Amino acid sequence: MPSTTEPQPILLSDYRPPDWLVDTVELDVRLHPSATRILARLSMRPNPAGRAGSPIVLDGDELVLKAVSLDGRALAGTAYVATPSALTILAPPQQPVLLEIETLLDPSANTKLMGLYRSSGTYCTQCEAEGFRRITYFPDRPDVLSVYTTRIEAERAEAPVLLGNGNLQESGEVEGTGRHYAVWHDPFPKPCYLFALVGGRLDRITEPFMTATGKEVELGIYVEPGKAGRAGYAMDALKRSMRWDEELFGCEYDLDVFNIVAVADFNMGAMENKGLNVFNDKYVLASPETATDADYANIEAIIAHEYFHNWTGNRITCRDWFQLCLKEGLTVFRDQEFSSDQRSRAVKRIADVRLLKSHQFAEDAGPLAHPVRPASYREINNFYTATVYEKGAEVVRMLKTLLGEENFRSGMDLYFERHDGTAATIEDFLTCFQDATGTDLSQFALWYAQAGTPRLEVAGHWDAAGATFTLDVAQTVPATPGQIDKQPMLIPLALGLVGEDGRDLPLQPAGGSNGAPGVVLVSEARQRFVFENVTERPRPSLNRGFSAPVKLVTDLSTQDLIFLARHDADPFNRFDAAQTLALGVLVDAARAGATPDAAPLVEALGAVLADPALDPAFIAQALSVPSEGDVAREIARDVDPDAIHAARLALRRAIGSALAEPLAGAFERFAVPGPYSPDAASAGRRALRNACLDLLATAGAGDGPARALGLFRAADNMTDRFVALSVLAHAVPAEREAALADFYAMFQGDPLVIDKWFALQAQIAEPGTLDRVRTLTAHPAFAMTNPNRVRSLIGSFAAANQTQFHRADGAGYDFVAQTVLTLDAINPQVAARLLAAFRSWRSLDAPRREAAEAALQRVSRTPGLSPDVADIAGRSLG
Ligand code: BES
Ligand code: ZN
Repeated sequence: MPSTTEPQPILLSDYRPPDWLVDTVELDVRLHPSATRILARLSMRPNPAGRAGSPIVLDGDELVLKAVSLDGRALAGTAYVATPSALTILAPPQQPVLLEIETLLDPSANTKLMGLYRSSGTYCTQCEAEGFRRITYFPDRPDVLSVYTTRIEAERAEAPVLLGNGNLQESGEVEGTGRHYAVWHDPFPKPCYLFALVGGRLDRITEPFMTATGKEVELGIYVEPGKAGRAGYAMDALKRSMRWDEELFGCEYDLDVFNIVAVADFNMGAMENKGLNVFNDKYVLASPETATDADYANIEAIIAHEYFHNWTGNRITCRDWFQLCLKEGLTVFRDQEFSSDQRSRAVKRIADVRLLKSHQFAEDAGPLAHPVRPASYREINNFYTATVYEKGAEVVRMLKTLLGEENFRSGMDLYFERHDGTAATIEDFLTCFQDATGTDLSQFALWYAQAGTPRLEVAGHWDAAGATFTLDVAQTVPATPGQIDKQPMLIPLALGLVGEDGRDLPLQPAGGSNGAPGVVLVSEARQRFVFENVTERPRPSLNRGFSAPVKLVTDLSTQDLIFLARHDADPFNRFDAAQTLALGVLVDAARAGATPDAAPLVEALGAVLADPALDPAFIAQALSVPSEGDVAREIARDVDPDAIHAARLALRRAIGSALAEPLAGAFERFAVPGPYSPDAASAGRRALRNACLDLLATAGAGDGPARALGLFRAADNMTDRFVALSVLAHAVPAEREAALADFYAMFQGDPLVIDKWFALQAQIAEPGTLDRVRTLTAHPAFAMTNPNRVRSLIGSFAAANQTQFHRADGAGYDFVAQTVLTLDAINPQVAARLLAAFRSWRSLDAPRREAAEAALQRVSRTPGLSPDVADIAGRSLG
């Protein structure tokens, strides 16, 4: 590693307030494909809380400075220093000044998709986290809040639609030039990462919305020409989100307009720019023929998420990027709650926990582990992680569990009241809950500081004579990079004691409860909880609803787990009992290279399938056994992905054969009548049918293959058609190529659908897949410049094809590493995320471990790496 040139990490402990503030920003933007001119007028003043007498130091990134003046006078060349990455005004007067800066940009050449760029000809911006500095020189940090006015000018033919933050103030022609302009004003002070503008030829749908206090808002969704017919569901989700936030959190919208723009080239899912959200079009556009039930659910969740940021993120923003979870964890919690209220709470919780375990637990167990609030970073783009987002949301959820619904709401109310219009910290947030409820949260705060998934070992003992049930709990937090010794955490453990008849026994902690009803608080390394008046041997149902993001190790027997899978009153734990059974069977089989013992699972799932009271969507979740990644994480060392794949396939085949009759019965019984509707009940029935179909076809039983072929041909919606295609591609090799070709012919010209086609092929667990993926990179529908294409084809291969990415000969690693290097020159952010697929390399068996390490080394030693890729490579190698 060339250590001399390596930039130093940024430390949370080094935080200092800015020396200069920017009260107002006036931007004059003249859009042009290759020569866009930006004139920025910044009203600045020394920060009383900063260092007196400081120069003005502004950030830049690949900027070209054309002119700079102070208080109306061009600055002498000796008065400032300009580089592409900074502009320093050496000795400014220590008083309010007007700084005017002209920069010149080439949006067409911007392949990083940060700052101002073009997507299918549309001008758009992405400024979070540090993209505004690619537009103009600016103190690009979230604690500098300013009021923005933006004048956008463009050729009318090229960009008839001009959008900015806030409300439209003025618009008109630039006489005799073919150009026009619009002036947007956002009265709410905001950090520059929330700045956005859009210019292009776009179609639009609009709807009025009346807020709780009677304010009229015009909602607009802008899409590529011809696609307005696919924006209706997003609009509906937006209106439901706005109402929900008023009702659940008392948060009302605050501008006259709220616009969403869908673009085809976007690094992330979506972005919450004030009054002008910009979305990856994958999370806006939906029609029954092109979008699956999962797509609809994602659209609903992400529309809600970005909308909810208007209060948690925009009105109250982050002091610095270490506080990212302040807005992201909280907002994920809010969007999860929204989806739970719109759909089935139990099924949503199951889906969220599956995601948490597969992404966050995996991250926490490897070299990229970090606290929910990191203490240092080299590249902030690499900290938009499952830990910050998903574990961050879990921490907020635990806070609610700890305090109870009402107290939680009081704390949130105080947070909005106290910090509106400011840039806050996690301490500020927690202090609101302490002040509103009188609860000491100092130990709880460790959830933000200590990385690693806590491990809870729980042993139960029933004493018949004393009618007591004792739980002995031991908690440990594993070592993670840079954190060896950990302190015990405060863990809200929801639980119940399930009696012989399947009903909950009364839960009576000896000496009174130390938590909310049904919850015990684990706060020590070792702790004993005794429950009284337990007159029969109970089965403990632990961590109900996944009340804490911990790894639970219990002494429950197979019979106990089967019992809980049949009877637990907590639906999450009913699901989890079946998963735990399956995981145990899979781990044993994979380790021994043996056939899994399917009997206990067949028993448990047979009961679930036969229970008429259960929600079909819940049954579908129960039928889906843990992923290969889940099994790998459980095995943890010397992992052989081929053995895991074989075990899982054998288990699914055994389940499909043993339960062929009820599975085929359910497939018939849950047919969805009428035309397609994305509602949760219909989606749940489809999910169950398709889970049945998958097991049947995998087992070659119950006419599975024929049913899949029939469904593929007859489907009137993408959910069914794509599941049928997946089943054929994975489980019916004889039909694979023809079905793939048919699907391509049906949807060519529809990139979002072709992405599904790419992703599916990349996931086939066969040695031919690597060559197939290589070949597909030359397919005319593939483009290395489009993040959705890259994620679909290469990302799916690396993250969702355990056997082929982890080929024993290392060819999967070489391919992905080479792709990362090619991509790094185009789009470092996307390249770095792709490289993170190596994160579990140390847990593999020796040949794979060595091959993966060699590939990472090759990346790491390549000269000229972006900071993004260098950071991931460096930390992965540890
Ligand atoms: N603020 C983020 C978008 C973002 C992420 C900008 C990273 C810059 C860098 C946005 O609110 C967000 O979190 N989007 C998520 C989707 C969300 C539903 C979790 C995303 O883009 O993946
Ligand atoms: Zn977000």
